[in-house]
Amino acid sequence: MNKATAVACSNIAFVKYWGKRHESLRLPLNSSLSMALSEATTTTTLAFAPGLSRDEITIDGQAAEEAGRARVVAHLDRIRQMAGIEGRARVISCNKFPPDAGIASSASGFAALTLAATKAAGLELSVCELSRLARLGSGSAARSIPGGFVEWRAGQGHESSLGEQVAPPEHWPELRDIVALLESGPKPVGSTQGMALAQTSPHLAARLALIPERLGRARQAILDRDLATLGEVSEEEAIELHLIAISSRPPIFYWMPATLGLIRRVLAWRSAGLEAYFTIDAGPNVHLLCEEKDAGPIVSALEEMPDVRGIIVNAPGFGAHLCSRHLF
Ligand code: DP6
Repeated sequence: MNKATAVACSNIAFVKYWGKRHESLRLPLNSSLSMALSEATTTTTLAFAPGLSRDEITIDGQAAEEAGRARVVAHLDRIRQMAGIEGRARVISCNKFPPDAGIASSASGFAALTLAATKAAGLELSVCELSRLARLGSGSAARSIPGGFVEWRAGQGHESSLGEQVAPPEHWPELRDIVALLESGPKPVGSTQGMALAQTSPHLAARLALIPERLGRARQAILDRDLATLGEVSEEEAIELHLIAISSRPPIFYWMPATLGLIRRVLAWRSAGLEAYFTIDAGPNVHLLCEEKDAGPIVSALEEMPDVRGIIVNAPGFGAHLCSRHLF
């Protein structure tokens, strides 16, 4: 078989990955912990076609731009080398979420690409092997191979740095991650470039020292389905990722005024008894964590806010898997 289609979910990190100790191997400074996002999926069909002179990569109907293309080709080269094949590939990839949603399409994108390409190349890899390989394409993609709640252990080196499931999606089906898409302003600095500056922040060492305790607290909160504790850790982590970004040299400001406005609303809702917590990735959008029963009132409140231009409601999502319906 030389054609395969895979689907993978993006993920939201409760304990964040922000900084590498090895650039090309994408070994992180710290372990991280995330949940797969059920509604933020990428579907990728790939075929190794003998007649092609170069890899043909189409993402959301457009030929991939140069930097993105080079990253995909480098990943395909790794897989060709592992499988001992030379053929160029035709790749068509579609995201279910808008390209400017600020959702890490590299996580779902490289997870789906890794599974589709290895399958099309005739390799049968385990979940651990797929996660380790996906990590080389994009760090957060290591967490999009297993489903549900996933910890990416920093590990000692390439072999031990991979995502492992802490709990399956059905462990906590009522948990919601509501993404509030805000007016984005100028294009933010990408995660890869942003985290490359983390070492220039004078606060990085203090952050890294706090991570083991936070990971333990977040892991236990997931196992106990304890939203208050998971929310507390997620907010500490979101604030600290942005503290590192803002104190990097040069500084990176991902927040927009609307980001802070929404954070303040979340705090006000909580004081009024509506249990919601926030987390924020490398962009202005705010992710709201809540239970299913509170998602309706939160969505209604978000719909009233002029700065909110889109809303995506996610439950815990599945792991990367093959699909029999091909895109070409
Ligand atoms: C802010 O996985 O996109 O979303 O490994 O350079 O591709 P690369 O970085 P990437 O970084 C994601 C950073 C984050 C936090 C997180 O998901 O943990």
